[in-house]
Amino acid sequence: MNPESPGKPRRRPRYSGNHPRRFAEKYKELNASRYPETVAQVLAAGKTPAGMHRPICLAEILELFQLKPGMTVADATLGYGGHARAMLECIQPGGLLVGLDTDPLELPKTEARLRAAGIAAEALRVHHSNFAALPRILATEGLEGVDCILADLGCSSMQLDNPERGFSFKHDGPLDLRMNPRKGLPATEWLGKQDQDGLARMLAENADEPRAEAIAAQIIAQQSREPLATTRGLAEVVREALSAVGKFSEAEQKATLQRVFQAVRIAVNDEFSALETFLRFLPSCLKPGGCVAVLTFHSGEDRRVKKFFQASRQNGLYEAIADEPIRPKAAEIQSNPRAASAKLRWARRSLDG
Ligand SMILES: C[S@@+](CC[C@H](N)C(=O)[O-])C[C@H]1O[C@@H](n2cnc3c(N)ncnc32)[C@H](O)[C@@H]1O
Repeated sequence: MNPESPGKPRRRPRYSGNHPRRFAEKYKELNASRYPETVAQVLAAGKTPAGMHRPICLAEILELFQLKPGMTVADATLGYGGHARAMLECIQPGGLLVGLDTDPLELPKTEARLRAAGIAAEALRVHHSNFAALPRILATEGLEGVDCILADLGCSSMQLDNPERGFSFKHDGPLDLRMNPRKGLPATEWLGKQDQDGLARMLAENADEPRAEAIAAQIIAQQSREPLATTRGLAEVVREALSAVGKFSEAEQKATLQRVFQAVRIAVNDEFSALETFLRFLPSCLKPGGCVAVLTFHSGEDRRVKKFFQASRQNGLYEAIADEPIRPKAAEIQSNPRAASAKLRWARRSLDG
């Protein structure tokens, strides 16, 4: 609703020149209900409309969960709500989906979209929370366990595409990278507290970065002159580090930038410790016979999911787990290149575990 003229939809902020300075001024898709034809064109071109996230491996997840009316589900990473909406359709009438996300900026928009689609309070409960706290959230909802749990790891397209969130080297923005900007340190401050060895170890551990030493050295040298404050600034330093150790194609430079930004994002958001806590508590959050599915996007995540699932199968908490991860089909990757690195692993809680 537009508070200045009740009854009239709020106008998209005016495009203010040849080079839009703000993300909100640039893309019509950010107002999807007003510009459905623009959204359709972007999707048809195999791209994700700005301000939107397309659910990955949706058919595979629904096939795995075999949802029925009346079931209870936890979506640990609500994001844009694409998976949640499809799961909600399967569990109505009588079902409940508990949705969590750590992002306080996108979460209210997602809840508003789901409510506008007719989803009632008794069918959907939304919590601004880290998924490491899933047992506590389920307890506050009076649930001892749920039938299915989904975690779709990493960041959303909305976070990635909005330069003001500082997740991407493709556009300039403040070097932040926090999914919850109200907690922890932005990347610029976090980098200021690191030493060279710790930074090199972090780049190797979080993203298997083969040139971790050279990149860490260049970042520390730059930090001693002037702290890195922007995404482009970090990207330039990484490119300088690469040119000091060899000749790299544009594709190799881009892949390195993706790894470095991923590594810093994981560190700033403390992603691995949240994931490990979540994986440890998972069996106790499922009803006997309940199923969990986790979508991962890089080896550091997938290794952890595989290890925890195997350990819980060995000690009898899970009766079955995915031996091999499910991968998105070629057609999905073609229409949504962001699905390319996805791996889906699942586990089923034992009936008596
Ligand atoms: C890939 S998106 C999920 C997309 C969603 N499945 C959909 O269909 O739109 C990942 C989401 O997980 C959230 N997230 C990442 N780590 C989290 C954590 N530890 N706890 C809760 N949410 C987290 C991010 O903020 C982001 O919104």
